[in-house]
Amino acid sequence: MASSKNWTVNSWRNLPIKQQPEYKNQDALRAAEQQLKSFPPLVSIDEIERLKAELAAVSRGEAFLLQGGDCAESFQEFSHDNLKSFFRTVMQMTIALMYGLNKPVVKVGRIAGQYAKPRSDGNETIGDTTLPSYRGDIVNAIEFEENARKANPQRLIESYFYSAASLNYLRSLALGGYGNLEKVNKWNEEFAHSLSSKKHTEEVISEVNKILNFMRACGLDSKTLPQLTTASFFTSHEALLLNYEEAFTRFNRDSGKFYDLSAHMLWIGDRTRHPDEAHVEFMRGIANPIAFKVGPSIKKEELLQLLEVLNPKNEAGRITLISRMGAGKVNDLLPPLVEAVKASGRCVVWSCDPMHGNTIKSSTGYKTRKFDEILSEIKSFFAVHKSLGTYAGGVHFEMTGQDVTECLGGNQQISEMNLQDRYHTHCDPRLNSSQSVELAFTIAKDLAANAK
Ligand code: PEP
Ligand code: CO
Repeated sequence: MASSKNWTVNSWRNLPIKQQPEYKNQDALRAAEQQLKSFPPLVSIDEIERLKAELAAVSRGEAFLLQGGDCAESFQEFSHDNLKSFFRTVMQMTIALMYGLNKPVVKVGRIAGQYAKPRSDGNETIGDTTLPSYRGDIVNAIEFEENARKANPQRLIESYFYSAASLNYLRSLALGGYGNLEKVNKWNEEFAHSLSSKKHTEEVISEVNKILNFMRACGLDSKTLPQLTTASFFTSHEALLLNYEEAFTRFNRDSGKFYDLSAHMLWIGDRTRHPDEAHVEFMRGIANPIAFKVGPSIKKEELLQLLEVLNPKNEAGRITLISRMGAGKVNDLLPPLVEAVKASGRCVVWSCDPMHGNTIKSSTGYKTRKFDEILSEIKSFFAVHKSLGTYAGGVHFEMTGQDVTECLGGNQQISEMNLQDRYHTHCDPRLNSSQSVELAFTIAKDLAANAK
């Protein structure tokens, strides 16, 4: 088993590993890895520990986790506009959730490093041509062309610089006043105008305005209270390419621990969470908060074994379990797992990814997801936790701040015929800005009603 031997930053290299690219030029790969090892990290240990403490609060039911972003970030979609609208959307969702839950919202982006993708098929065939599948911009290019699909080690370096630039801008938005609560509530007012059924949303917005006005009367406004203008924001991505992650894993003498400084939080995907394989081996040795996906194929015993291997000391805030069962399965598959974790006394955050179990193909040939199914899985997830007396701690979305047409339904009533209009994703279909904010208001309303 992965945990029975001593851990080193490269002990994962001795174990079976899934979902890795095939690099033809191993010398170029080694050179890229060496270069990455010398680069400055993207995040700091203090920030990572702060996130862990905030997630520990989530595990106690004192806060709520909102994790979201692209399925796959791409170099092509890297822009001022995309980052800004993403951040704005997350802030709009945050206000809705904070108001509904009366709890702080821990914001974690699938961003500034979410470039590597696991694929169900290693190859893609179009007509008579078979090429390696696109595995994310950190590996190869999406164009269906022989050269583009070759795994290119130089892309590891490029991804680092894209991540660094994204993070730099996100930090300036978070700390520089762009997330100012008064401003965010104005954006929500604009959003509410577009709704066909706006009563509830307008009520929430008006209540938030009353609170802000009252605070202003007390002398508490954006000039006197930094909490109103700054936001804490963390990054995460799937730790899929372990050579990239290894390069950013640095030893901290003070604590005697290793931290993966490529992101604050890292997760293991549903396809690579085998306890005897490389991904679990690597992740058990880093001190970051980590997550793993809990899909329909996981067994109770395997889940408990993973918790033992990945968090033997049962540290609070260390583990987030991201359930992604699908709307039709969650009611059957989730309760026994939640009960088993509860009975084991293991401390976790339970979060719901309502995206990956609800992917369908439209009659027009697009990979898509229905807004109603997404909402239905979240509602079931909350209901399961309520009935078992456990805390539904968060949500995990594939989303963008752009007005894309990738998921069906929502207030905009995106139809199968609309999908072709603005279908820009490099991998899975994302909620657009309006669908994301609408979901947040709907969840918040349900949770508030449930809490009564
Ligand atoms: C993802 O989060 O993009 C993903 C591939 O999810 P999963 O591992 O749950 O399939
Ligand atoms: Co995805």
